[in-house]
Amino acid sequence: MDAIVAVPEVCVGIDVGSGFTQWMAGYVGSPSPVWKGMFPSTVGLWTREMAERHSGRHPSVISVPAAGMDMVVGNDAVMHVRPEDLMDTLTVEWSQSEGWYALFLAALAQAVMGIRDAEDQPVNFSDVLLGSNLSVAVGVPQALFSTLRPILEKKLNNKVDFTYCGHPYSLPIKTRVYPQAGAAAAAIDELSNADQPVGVIDVGTFTTGFAVMVKDDNGEFALEYPRSGGIESGGGRVARSIKEWLQAEHRATLSSAEVYKAITKGTWKIRGVEIDIKTQVGIAAKPVVADIVQATRDIWKGGDDLEIVAIVGGAGPLVAPGLMEHFPQGKLITDSQWCVVKGLAFMAGVEI
Ligand SMILES: Nc1ncnc2c1ncn2[C@@H]1O[C@H](COP(=O)(O)OP(=O)(O)OP(=O)(O)O)[C@@H](O)[C@H]1O
Ligand SMILES: [Mg+2]
Repeated sequence: MDAIVAVPEVCVGIDVGSGFTQWMAGYVGSPSPVWKGMFPSTVGLWTREMAERHSGRHPSVISVPAAGMDMVVGNDAVMHVRPEDLMDTLTVEWSQSEGWYALFLAALAQAVMGIRDAEDQPVNFSDVLLGSNLSVAVGVPQALFSTLRPILEKKLNNKVDFTYCGHPYSLPIKTRVYPQAGAAAAAIDELSNADQPVGVIDVGTFTTGFAVMVKDDNGEFALEYPRSGGIESGGGRVARSIKEWLQAEHRATLSSAEVYKAITKGTWKIRGVEIDIKTQVGIAAKPVVADIVQATRDIWKGGDDLEIVAIVGGAGPLVAPGLMEHFPQGKLITDSQWCVVKGLAFMAGVEI
């Protein structure tokens, strides 16, 4: 054990979104996060019958002894759990559910395993971390922040014992909770020189979050609470209308994963013929843009004082052209889908 105890303190940013769970990890004070990962926020019960069918193999199953049940997460849940048996990721109670906790732990395990592989450590690498706390920053939607922060900080500041993909983990964690859109500001270089308030719009799967950040006397961004919040509209709505359009116009039935691929590519082959869907994606994005414009009109009081409006989140590229017609100071941030979790990694202690 002595030879491997020298691993520096590890910090991990984790964002359990309604569509995707992402993590980014690094060492305290390292120049940037070093590892990252992402999987669908899909979770369901892992029944005895499923376990019998998979004996000997280890799909992404999480066992938390305290919960008394096994859950399967990510792409394995997409493959093995019937859609009607999946847990609903869209309720206010979601962040306090066992399903959310399973996705959080899977992200934590992947981060620790990623570091172990990179360091060429033995399989019991997780034991190495027993001596030092893992510093974790986790994101929650802005609207739920003040309710969830005390609950989650109490629940996630402890030793967590669980099994993931057949490996046992016993990790002491020290967790801080941050609002998603506000955390993203820490990862956006373009905002660092602003001397007036800046806005962040985080366009996710089912939700869009808003934050206004104001520099304090030390030049650090602080969240302006009354002008931060969220609505239930996002990329999932664009995907749903593209799926319906492909069905109605081309008699093509696409899975959710295929629809996202088609939207990202801008084209899709149906019965061997390539269909251009870019114009239709623009049309499908319009109601989401309208929802965001309406919400910012209310929450931001128009937002004319904002020097920059940073557009982040996985669905940022879909709505950015429409939003920039309304906000000439709008900027689509590169790698928009990674901004929130990168900001969280920063909050956990990685220097960016
Ligand atoms: N390659 C891709 N795979 C999946 N989704 C993609 C891809 N490219 C863009 N998207 C879009 O990104 C969205 C997911 O964004 P993001 O990961 O920010 O959401 P989330 O954080 O899970 O959701 P929320 O913020 O609502 O909780 C999808 O709904 C889709 O519209
Ligand atoms: Mg999100």
